[in-house]
Amino acid sequence: MCGIVGYVGPKDGVGIVLDGLRRLEYRGYDSAGISAVRDHTLDSVRAVGKLKALEAKLTSAPIHGSPVIGHTRWATHGVPSEANAHPHTDDALAIAVVHNGIIENYLELGAMLRATGVQFRSETDTEVIAHLIRHYYRGDLFAAVTRALQDVRGAYAFGIVSKDDPGVLIAARNGSPLVIGVGDNEHYIASDATALIKYTRRVMYLDDGQAAEIRADRTAIHDLNGKLQSLEVKTVDWDLAMAEKGGYPHFMLKEIHEQPEVIRNVLRGRVAANGADVALDDIKLAPEILVKCPRIFIVACGTAWHSGLIGKRLIESIAKVPVEVDIASEFRYRDLLLPPGSVVIPVTQSGETADTLEALRAARRAGATILSLVNVQGSTIARESNAVLPLRAGIEMGVASTKAYTAMVAAFALLAIHLGRLRGSLAPEAAGALLSDFLRIPDKIAACLANQRTILECASDPRFRDAASALFLGRAYNYPTALEGALKLKEISYIHAEGYGAGEMKHGPIALVTDKLPSVFIAPQSATRDKIVSNMQEVRARNGVILAIATEGDAGIAAHAEKVVYIPPCLEPLSPLLTTIPLQLLAYHISVNRGCDVDQPRNLAKSVTVE
Ligand code: F6R
Repeated sequence: MCGIVGYVGPKDGVGIVLDGLRRLEYRGYDSAGISAVRDHTLDSVRAVGKLKALEAKLTSAPIHGSPVIGHTRWATHGVPSEANAHPHTDDALAIAVVHNGIIENYLELGAMLRATGVQFRSETDTEVIAHLIRHYYRGDLFAAVTRALQDVRGAYAFGIVSKDDPGVLIAARNGSPLVIGVGDNEHYIASDATALIKYTRRVMYLDDGQAAEIRADRTAIHDLNGKLQSLEVKTVDWDLAMAEKGGYPHFMLKEIHEQPEVIRNVLRGRVAANGADVALDDIKLAPEILVKCPRIFIVACGTAWHSGLIGKRLIESIAKVPVEVDIASEFRYRDLLLPPGSVVIPVTQSGETADTLEALRAARRAGATILSLVNVQGSTIARESNAVLPLRAGIEMGVASTKAYTAMVAAFALLAIHLGRLRGSLAPEAAGALLSDFLRIPDKIAACLANQRTILECASDPRFRDAASALFLGRAYNYPTALEGALKLKEISYIHAEGYGAGEMKHGPIALVTDKLPSVFIAPQSATRDKIVSNMQEVRARNGVILAIATEGDAGIAAHAEKVVYIPPCLEPLSPLLTTIPLQLLAYHISVNRGCDVDQPRNLAKSVTVE
């Protein structure tokens, strides 16, 4: 959802800001722009399309300076066009603004400004801010910005510069993420810290309602009433290698291959020496809250929501605590009947998803304890939670989530075992069996990754690669895997795909089955394996083409499918950690074979910070 980068210091900031934008391009990529202040002049360059288009323009007509602000856009108001690309400027071309978020009252503010003679040049909600700052400008940029923000309703992260205030970079935040990077006699701003780790790991996370006046050698942070605030400087523990492709053609493929290591990280130090208990000391939540909680509510979006559906099964079957799972954007609009003592678990890779954040806030207002599963530490959701279970997946750059998803599922499995042991609903022997199988999962994921032949065949088989539509079917723990497999395929290859409970297929979707509709059945060894095979027969009887994901040694399944991918055996509750791997690879290779942009699929953004 739009990426912002800024620099102020003794160097020419244009290259630094462009480099940061490259790392943020996953947030939005329909247009980009940059503004630089030099010798009381303001130069701006904007271009439609990916960052490459902006880079090409800057090569033929370079600009230089400091401070510099840059932006990569994911359109909310107005089509992707040069006029709508950021930075936006005032009539005098003196003040430049980059923005992530939505200004709700931009029409009202625009009407007020038009009445004073202001001419608008774009269809965006952002341009109004540049004019509004000019409206209040009396020789002090920071004072004009804080005054203007008092009129603004909505969500924003801003970076602002002016040719009349050289040496000053202004940042402000309300509802959209923004970090300030602290360098040696230089400062940076960015929508997330990944844009800055090449330059500094020391960051300050701006809070809602704060604005910062940033110079090379100092930063002053105020609330919108002008009261001085202090912010702690934190150190980010990610390194640059995590934000690079490391020899893989796409971030998504790199991240798929990182999953054995990610699951090792999720488990590291969290299996107690007795092999039957889970040590989740990093949660920092009084155990009584987990022991006494009558009901758990999981809230998340997209892929994270799929992990929550598996989390429900894990917690209910292992810890015997009732769980409800909601899509975050629905949760906040229902009557929240949360029994006293309820725990709400928001699940999120970015920690910035607006719907999940608002669900968290609604749950807090309703009196629940918030225990989040979050990948990006320091993110808004992490900071607004009572407690956090860190996912430890490292930076995820591919827009289609892969390693963060398996980290979420693994974290839910650990949490379920932890709850079961704390509440006495899981015997030590059963916990020990689960944990010893769990410790072998990373090697089993590696085995799935080493076995790509059948997936590659399917991905180049026209019946799969050129299909207009596909079905993904699974039951029990692997019903959410079916939803996730379908989501991965549709988001990166643009093939319409539906995930269904395999038992539900005969209640409608079977009408779609012909020899033109491929079905992917997720059918590992499980209590429902035989039932799934019956569902496969129903599809075969209608000439449907089937790819099955089954467990090694299941000799019977090949008779019911065109192709079978075998995964190593494991306990059923942990099976989604393996079955999802071939589905990620299938989506990836089909996308590549169809010539799609794997890491930056159309219309999507990695971090969805608007509701
Ligand atoms: C799909 C995908 C999205 C995200 C969703 C939530 O591959 O990545 O569906 O899962 O936008 O994002 P987070 O986890 O950042 O809250």
